[in-house]
Amino acid sequence: MSEYLPGLEGVPATKSNISYIDGEKGILAYRGYPIEQLVEQSNFEETTLLLLDGRLPTADMLASFDEQLRRNRRVKYNIREMMKHLPATGHPMDMLQTGVASLGMFYPGSECLTGSGVCTDLDYIHNMTVNIIACMPVIVTNWEHLRNGYDPIPPRTDLNFAENFLYMFTGEEPDPILARILDTCLILHAEHTINASTFAALVAGSTLASPYSVIAAAIGTLSGPLHGGANERVLDMLEEIGSPANAKGWLDRKLAKKEKIWGMGHREYKVKDPRAPILQKLMVELMEHRGSKASPKLEIALALEEAAQERLAAKGVYPNVDYYSGILYDEMGIPSDQFTPIFAVSRAAGWLAHWREQLGDNRIFRPTQVYTGEPLRDYVVIEQR
Ligand code: COA
Repeated sequence: MSEYLPGLEGVPATKSNISYIDGEKGILAYRGYPIEQLVEQSNFEETTLLLLDGRLPTADMLASFDEQLRRNRRVKYNIREMMKHLPATGHPMDMLQTGVASLGMFYPGSECLTGSGVCTDLDYIHNMTVNIIACMPVIVTNWEHLRNGYDPIPPRTDLNFAENFLYMFTGEEPDPILARILDTCLILHAEHTINASTFAALVAGSTLASPYSVIAAAIGTLSGPLHGGANERVLDMLEEIGSPANAKGWLDRKLAKKEKIWGMGHREYKVKDPRAPILQKLMVELMEHRGSKASPKLEIALALEEAAQERLAAKGVYPNVDYYSGILYDEMGIPSDQFTPIFAVSRAAGWLAHWREQLGDNRIFRPTQVYTGEPLRDYVVIEQR
């Protein structure tokens, strides 16, 4: 095959049984289970184990995994020391990538990956998986305090994943409704077939790099505004629009300049992303819990979605997961530059599931290219140029 398809659109780059998208019907399923059922009946810990192992765990399996996650909720203090030397003005995604990459220095052991055969040390693979999933929220929440000049809040083992995240982020007893909303967001962001960051993870994993390098590569890829970084841009965009009445005019001006609307469009979905309506429902739940009216930003987002429907639906451009997640996090009091790190905390589950799947049937990724440069020619010495 020699046809070049920009962005590898439609090119199958791997085989996977982890998740499934029907972009015409708006279906997303993890290991065959529709996300609508998982957000109603599962939790992030169980969904993570489902993604990793391919089946719904028994109560004992889940309890054991949950216990391992709780026990690993800490990083070596030298990682915190290192973080203290990073500029407080740096982006939390850069910090997260640095922090995760540095874990490889503090938790070595990936030699078992580098043999000529398939890694058979399943304990190593499992332990690293648990360690990364448990450590990433610690790095993200520690940074929130360190960058503001405070000591981080130590983790608590009596709280579940989402509760502990909120506790370490705010230092306050987690509100159960907010924790449930965050847990749902974590489930929704945990996996999404072979998107750009998962592909980056697969490419890194296929070289038998350490899992920390694999996840650091994925975090860097997720940070871009065409991928996970879009959620932060959505907030800037809504602030720029200012009020629902401005939405139509603002949209027309942007489209006339051929600019992208953040949080809209998707390579796979040609209808509204199935995660978006779930996030909208969570917004309503949050507002009811607070006893307040709809948030002004949500009002603007709804007006923009309506205006975009008229102009972009024909191209199959609708809100994606990043459109409503930022508004929700904003209403939960989370600073906008931490939206994508939270996305990464959750997506680590999917990245690691794909890394494990890749190791199970590995061949290094090494695509080819269409060469468009000069033909072979003779070197010219500097005096004759
Ligand atoms: N705003 C306006 N127009 C958009 C658009 C958006 N967000 N997303 C796609 N389109 C339009 C393109 O301009 C193009 O129109 P054209 O055929 O008239 O040139 C058409 O839809 C196809 O878009 P294309 O850029 O080729 O799609 P892609 O599959 O390469 O890109 C995204 C997918 C996600 C990168 C793209 O939709 C985008 O940049 N979205 C905004 C960023 C974002 O929210 N990313 C998070 C994804 S979860």
